[in-house]
Amino acid sequence: MDTQTIVILDFGSQYTQLIARRIREQNVFSVVLPCTVPLAEIEALKPMGLVLSGGPSSVYDVDAPAADPNLLQLGVPILGICYGLQFIVHHLGGKVRSASKREYGHAEVNIEDSATPLFTGLPPTLAVWMSHGDEALELPAGFHRTAVTSNALAGIANEDRRIWAVQFHPEVHHTPLGSQLIKNFLFSICGAAGDWTPAHFIETTVASIRAKVGKGHVICGLSGGVDSSVAAVLVHKAIGDQLTCIFVNNGVLRKNEFLSVQKNLRDKLGLKIVAVDATDRFMDRLAGVTDPEIKRKRIGAEFIAVFDDEANRIAQESGGVDWLVQGTLYPDVIESSSVKGPSQTIQSHHNVGGLPERMKLKLIEPLRDLFKDEVRRIGRDLAMPEDVLGRQPFPGPGLAVRILGEVTPERVALLQEADDIVVTEIKAAGLYTKIWQSFAVLLPVMSVGVMGDQRTYAYTAAIRAVHSEDGMTADWTPLPYEVLKRISSRIVNEVRGINRVVYDITSKPPGTIEWE
Ligand code: XMP
Repeated sequence: MDTQTIVILDFGSQYTQLIARRIREQNVFSVVLPCTVPLAEIEALKPMGLVLSGGPSSVYDVDAPAADPNLLQLGVPILGICYGLQFIVHHLGGKVRSASKREYGHAEVNIEDSATPLFTGLPPTLAVWMSHGDEALELPAGFHRTAVTSNALAGIANEDRRIWAVQFHPEVHHTPLGSQLIKNFLFSICGAAGDWTPAHFIETTVASIRAKVGKGHVICGLSGGVDSSVAAVLVHKAIGDQLTCIFVNNGVLRKNEFLSVQKNLRDKLGLKIVAVDATDRFMDRLAGVTDPEIKRKRIGAEFIAVFDDEANRIAQESGGVDWLVQGTLYPDVIESSSVKGPSQTIQSHHNVGGLPERMKLKLIEPLRDLFKDEVRRIGRDLAMPEDVLGRQPFPGPGLAVRILGEVTPERVALLQEADDIVVTEIKAAGLYTKIWQSFAVLLPVMSVGVMGDQRTYAYTAAIRAVHSEDGMTADWTPLPYEVLKRISSRIVNEVRGINRVVYDITSKPPGTIEWE
């Protein structure tokens, strides 16, 4: 079953990924390619439509993106957005006038040609998010104006050539009816079927993994997080026990996590998992270390060493390993391709270091085309447990970067208990999946307290809860007082060794999410 594809050419707009999301929300597959991509690469995807994104340049800039104007001759329907409109006008023989300054903001658009299929079902006036840059002065032959604002051109079309363009941004929330316009492009103009569903994705991905791997052997590093788990389950569905997953206990996982991940993925979903308890190896490497970056480096290096040992052992037992599964997601791919060209990026935080090169492993990245929420949708269709799919992000160096100062087995045990209380109470309050990350931090700060008739002198725990879209920036979350009260009283009463709880009310920036 071929996948119907819309290709979005990225001219540098901050909204390009949003265009991809809006199209995928209609169950139509879309990919973002740099606008400089060779035409042959676009054609190889057999797109049913092209979208030209916005971008910060002017078509007259010397450093305007060097896109091949022949992409306008590919013969598939085209939708130009903002810069995309200027690109079309400029390269098809019209005139664009440089504007002295760019303006962004709310605007009202009057639709002049309500018969053009792009505007089917839209009212005569439309609230939009406009970005005026250059202005199209003269339209190319065969084009006509379809929409205007009070002072600018807002839309053009050439139905014979099947090219439409708008100056505003239909992909952003500030254009409330923008999704109708995108639907019109997809369904009325391109004739999309809207069948890119999780079931379709699973079927085509499983078939292609099967064809690619043949009788080969595959390994996968499981972290217990959403991405590596969904990737592993997909590959397992394709090739069963030709896949071996390696799950390492680095001694700084959360309470019961080493067991619960195995229970979820091995017992419930049938994955073949080699679970390695390397706690002692990691604790030896962490003894006496207080510097956060040295902690990270040691944990990373030890992880590679353990993973390497296991991979070599599996290779010996199974007569060789050929492939490595990675849970790379689409935003990582777009990010790396816009700078360096599409590449087989190996994410450093997956901590497998130089393994693919050393063992000559080829990569399988079944989630390369997906956004995070799409990965969760696929996981649901694969009947994976909600506590795997809804899990908050957890850093590779684990609790080590939440224990300030030296990491010792005693401190890990204290933090595991405190953290488990935070997570349990936040889940009980129905807040866990609404918060980006929520956890406890163990501070090496001793203070005096009283417990019954006894004086205590013990550690401090800090509670951290943040809202975020992507971890790059974050706002501290105002947890309800009742929840804070329960967390505090349970930690102080149940975790012997912590007698004080404080609440971190720092956003990022200037703080970071983790304390180290
Ligand atoms: P910070 O603390 O930099 O964290 O605001 C941003 C996001 O990244 C996660 N994080 C890490 N993830 N290895 C990882 O795999 C790391 O060393 C690491 N440090 C921070 C953090 O949990 C948050 O989601």
